[in-house]
Amino acid sequence: MKRTQVVIVGAGPAGLLLGQLLHREGIDTLLLERRSAEYVAGRIRAGVLEPGTVNVLEHAGVATRLHAEGLVHEGVEIGFRGRRHRIDLKALTGKSVTVYGQTEVTRDLMEARAAAGMLSVYEAEDVALHDVGGNTPRVSFRHQGVVHEVACDFIAGCDGFHGISRRSIPAESLSVSERVYPFGWLGVLADTPPAWHELIYANSEQGFALASMRSPTRVRCYVQCDLTERVEQWSDERFWAEFRLRLGGEIGARVPDAPSIEKSIAPLRSFVAEPLRFGRLFLAGDAAHIVPPTGAKGLNLAVSDVFYLSEALRDSYREVPGERAERALDAYSTRALRRIWRAERFSWWMTRQLHRFPGDAFDSRLQHTELEYLFESRAAQVSMAENYVGLPL
Ligand code: FAD
Ligand code: DHB
Repeated sequence: MKRTQVVIVGAGPAGLLLGQLLHREGIDTLLLERRSAEYVAGRIRAGVLEPGTVNVLEHAGVATRLHAEGLVHEGVEIGFRGRRHRIDLKALTGKSVTVYGQTEVTRDLMEARAAAGMLSVYEAEDVALHDVGGNTPRVSFRHQGVVHEVACDFIAGCDGFHGISRRSIPAESLSVSERVYPFGWLGVLADTPPAWHELIYANSEQGFALASMRSPTRVRCYVQCDLTERVEQWSDERFWAEFRLRLGGEIGARVPDAPSIEKSIAPLRSFVAEPLRFGRLFLAGDAAHIVPPTGAKGLNLAVSDVFYLSEALRDSYREVPGERAERALDAYSTRALRRIWRAERFSWWMTRQLHRFPGDAFDSRLQHTELEYLFESRAAQVSMAENYVGLPL
């Protein structure tokens, strides 16, 4: 292939879904991914889908298995000082979330892309972007020892936080806002039925813990950990002992020592690079922004970004090249950033309220006060619930 309309860099949820949405608009794409298809399909990450995300996946034609296998949750719980407080998402907002792993979303999208005969190159090495600020954008890469170059109209940088797309934009053309948190999350995946019915976000004396799930027989659990710690220092026994302690109560007591299928540590970070457009290059998903995982927003934001981007590209192709087409393209960054910053605020707020921070007594008293206010005020619960289920797209 020497030319396509849109080159998509990165086969995470952002890149794969963008390809699917553009395909539905009759726009051709080439997808370039650094890793193998097996590696991409096997990565364990997020697990909670907002209703808006489910709508976009339906619109993209990839929601059949999601509806058959996804678990609909009408509430979440917050554990604090030995008690659990339920936030009734359904009663407070009329909406629910769906528990369906990112691995499953990825698999559905990969299968749809293959079925539609759209071109994907996995294990594409040395992907490089050329003339993104000019009129002849091109992407070069090496595959099985052969160097290729493809000309295109647009490039979608969906290559995650460590990708090359964001770094292809001159530093003076990007404004970066960042917050790094002084801890990480240690996550474990295990085949055992969850001892809980809904997700529990626990703020405990020992630090944060999250009890999540992937199916009626598979759990996903996290504990806040030190950034200096390595996975090898956490045997399954140590993990479960810590998790039980932090979860506490009768539910904690019912958690077995299940062997882990996967165990990893992720640092926590808030990050936004803006605007999301530089010439013919657009950034979407983790390539442009990171949220700490506490609000379950990372995957959902990747989905809303590419939904907006697919509309902007569609609208620009409907115009003759010129000012109106440019305005359609510029609309993407403005629309997406509005939602991104709201999710950044909510994820920062959830992180702030639920973790142990090195701080003084004042910070700690404020955290307690904020949580007590949340448990007692319906207004505060509505605010949390409407953000958790996701603000409208
Ligand atoms: P990614 O999924 O990162 O996809 C980017 C793709 O680009 C990757 O496949 C990568 O291999 C590819 N790529 C990178 N560089 C290049 C290159 N040079 N050339 C070609 N391809 C390239 N969110 C939650 O809500 N809950 C969680 O528990 C959670 N856990 C996470 C754990 C980890 C370790 C990470 C990294 C993220 C986690 N997230 C979580 C966030 C969520 O998974 C992401 O927000 C989501 O994956 C973003 O999708 P994306 O497509 O933008 O980026
Ligand atoms: C999961 C991850 C999250 O970050 C979150 O807030 C809720 C659930 C999960 O992996 O299941």
